[in-house]
Amino acid sequence: MCGIFAYVNYNVSKERSYILEVLFNGLRRLEYRGYDSAGISIDSSSKIANGDTCPSLPPLVFRQEGNIESLVKSVYQEVATIYLNLEESFSSHAGIAHTRWATHGEPAPRNSHPQSSGEENDFVVVHNGVITNYEVLKKTLVRHGFVFVSETDTEVIPKLAKYVFDKACEEGDLTVTFCQVVLEVMRHLEGAYALIFKSRHYPNELVACKRGSPLLLGVKEFNEEGNVGPSFDDSKSLLSSIRPKELFFSSDASALVDHTKKVLVIEDGEVVHLKRFNLYYFIEPADSFPKYLTDDVFPPSGSVQIDNFLLFIQKYKTITRVWWLQDGAVSIVKFNQKMGKHAGRLARPASVQRALSILEMEVEQINKGKYEHYMQKEIHEQPESLRTTMRGRLIRGGSSKGKTVLLGGLKDHLKTIRRSRRIVFIGCGTSYNAALASRPIVEELSGIPVTLEIASDLIDRQGPIYREDTAVFVSQSGETADTLLALEYALENGALCVGITNTVGSAIARNTHCGVHINAGCEIGVASTKAYTSQIVVMAMVALAIGADTISNQARREAIVDGLIDLPNKLKDVLKLDEEMKDLAKLLVSEQSLLVFGRGYNYATTLEGALKVKEVALMHSEGILAGEMKHGPLALVDENLPIFVIATRDACFSKQQSVIQQLHARKGRLLVMCTEGDAESVSVGGTCRVVEVPRVEDCLQPVINIVPLQLLAYHLTVLRGYNVDQPRNLAKSVTTQ
Ligand code: F6R
Repeated sequence: MCGIFAYVNYNVSKERSYILEVLFNGLRRLEYRGYDSAGISIDSSSKIANGDTCPSLPPLVFRQEGNIESLVKSVYQEVATIYLNLEESFSSHAGIAHTRWATHGEPAPRNSHPQSSGEENDFVVVHNGVITNYEVLKKTLVRHGFVFVSETDTEVIPKLAKYVFDKACEEGDLTVTFCQVVLEVMRHLEGAYALIFKSRHYPNELVACKRGSPLLLGVKEFNEEGNVGPSFDDSKSLLSSIRPKELFFSSDASALVDHTKKVLVIEDGEVVHLKRFNLYYFIEPADSFPKYLTDDVFPPSGSVQIDNFLLFIQKYKTITRVWWLQDGAVSIVKFNQKMGKHAGRLARPASVQRALSILEMEVEQINKGKYEHYMQKEIHEQPESLRTTMRGRLIRGGSSKGKTVLLGGLKDHLKTIRRSRRIVFIGCGTSYNAALASRPIVEELSGIPVTLEIASDLIDRQGPIYREDTAVFVSQSGETADTLLALEYALENGALCVGITNTVGSAIARNTHCGVHINAGCEIGVASTKAYTSQIVVMAMVALAIGADTISNQARREAIVDGLIDLPNKLKDVLKLDEEMKDLAKLLVSEQSLLVFGRGYNYATTLEGALKVKEVALMHSEGILAGEMKHGPLALVDENLPIFVIATRDACFSKQQSVIQQLHARKGRLLVMCTEGDAESVSVGGTCRVVEVPRVEDCLQPVINIVPLQLLAYHLTVLRGYNVDQPRNLAKSVTTQ
C-alpha cells in the first residue's frame, strides 16, 4: 500500500541515467504495494550536487498516473523536452520515488507523490500511510497563504516543512538543519507514516522518519578501489575514511536486495538524516526549537570510526540518538533531553550497538524466473516454501516425547499460553482464513477455547480481550494497519501477544511478546498464496507445541508431525492438477459467479478459494459453510450456477456426501473436490466433474485443498484477460485503515 524509495550516492560519480534507473527499478520492485500512479524527484543540475556555490535550483518532480512504465516513459520524454542531459554526472545526489495506492484523491498526477511545498519545490515528500489530522493542518496552512493543488492528505507535509523553514529563517535562525525542520513537522502530524523529504535548501541530503508504516535503510559501500567492500572500513583516520557510498530507503526489502543486503530497520519515532559531512554533529530534541550544535560538542573518541557522512537518528521527543556506522554496526548514542542541552559539557554518554541486519533474501527469490506471473510462481513454489517453513523445527524421535516440534520464538512462553483462558486469533483476509483453518487443531491439541477475530471488527466493537488471553496476530506482511491496531489494543488490555508473520523486523514481529516467522520467502503477488499454506503449517506446529505435554494425544501429534514432513511431497503431487484446473477455468471463464461449499477443516478453504477467485479473476464467488446450506444458500441452486463442493476424507465426509446428493436433487451444477480414489462415491453416478487430491492428515488437508482453487483463480484471471499480479483496486500490505 504505497511504496517509497530513495537513492543517495556520496563521492561516487553517477550519471543521471543511472540515478533514474535505480529509482525506477526500486519502484518496479515496490509496484505490488500500489500501482495507480507514481513519481520521482531528482536534482536539476550537478553543480548543486557537487556543492558548487551557485544558488540552489529547485528539485525536479515528475508524476504520472498509471503504472511505473508510464512514469518511465513520461520522464524520458520530459527529460528530452527540457534538454536535461542523461549523461550528466553527479558525484553526490539524493533522489526520492513513490508508487501509489490511492487513499485520498483519485489517481491523477496532481495527487501523486512526491507532493510539493509549492512551485519552487522547496520541500518535496513521498509518503506511505495516512495523516489523520490533515484537514486541521490544511486550514491553518491556508490561513498562512498556502495554496493546495491536490486532494491528498500528504500535501500538508511539504507545506508545513516550508512554513517551519521560512519561520526559522525569518526569526534569524539561518543554521536550521533539515533534520530540525522535519522534527518540527513530525510534532504536528497525527496518523501513520513513513516519509522521505528532499529539499532545495539542503542539496544532497535526505531526511526520513516513520511512525506506523515500514521503512528500511540500505547501505552499500565501496572500498578505495571503488569495488563493493565486504565489510566496513577499519581505517583509523577521519580523512582516509572517506569512501564512496550508496544509500537507499525503501518500504520493504525487495527493493534493496538488488543493491545491498545490509539494512537497518528504522523504528517508530526515529528520524534519519543522510548528509555528506565530516564532523560530529548533534541535534537536540524538538520540543523547544532546537539549537544548532557542531563538532566541538562531541569530541571524537579513538574507538569510533567516523565516515564522511553521518546518520543522524533522533528519537522523537524523549531521547536523542546520534548514530553512525562502525565496523558493520550502527552505534547509537542516547541522550536524555536534559543531557542534550548541555551535551558539550557532559561526559560522553554510553553508546550501544545496533547491528545492521543482513537480509537473507536473494535476488532470484524476487524475480519471476521461468513463470509469467508472481502469483503463478508463488503457487508453484509451495513445496519449497513449506520445507523452509518447517526447516529445523520438526524433531523426529530421539526424545522421551517422540516426534515433536521446536519453536524457538515460543518456547519461553509456552507455559503462559497453556495457562491462558482463551486463545484469540486475529488477522485480516487470507491471514484470517489461515487462522480459521487452524482453529480445530489448536482447540483439539491445546484443550483451550479458540476464538477468531477479524482485526477491524475487533477494533470497531472494542471486543473483550483479557489479561488471561493469548492473542495471536497472523499477518503475512506484519504491517497491516488493522492488525496493528488490534495488537495495540490487546497489549493495552494485558494479553500475551504472539506474532505469526512472514516479515522479519516488521511491526508485528517487533511489537508482540513472542512469535514464529513463517519463513515462506518474499511474497510479491498481491493475492496471498504460499503465505497461506505456510501460516497453516506454522499454526499446526504451534498447536503441537502447546499440546506437547499431553500424553493422551501423543499418537495424534506424532501422526501430524509425520504428515507435516510428507506435506511438501504431497503438495508437489497436487500441483500436477495445473492443466486440469486450466481446463476447468476454460469451462467457467464466462460465468458470473461461483459458490464453494465446505465444512470442518475445509470451511476456511471455501472462504480462501472464493477470495482468490474474487480478487484476481474479478468473478463473484462465495465460500459457504455446508452446514448452513439449508438455511438460505440452497435457494440459489439451479442448473446454471457452478458450485464447487469440497468433500475430501475427514470426519465430515459422509455429511458432505449427503450435501452433494441434496444439491444434485435440486439440479445443482456440481464440481467436487475429493480424495484420490473417491471419485465414484462423490460423482453421483458420474454426473459431476471431480477433482481428486492426495490425502493427508485431516488437519493438514486445507494446505492441499486450497491449491486447486489457487490454480483455478490464476487460470481464470489469465483467461479473462486481467492483470494477475495487480488486481484492480488492490495492493499488497494494507498499511492504512
Ligand atoms: C488476499 C490477501 C489479503 C491479505 C490481508 C492481510 O489474497 O492477500 O486478504 O491476506 O490484506 O494481509 P497480511 O497478511 O499482510 O496482514
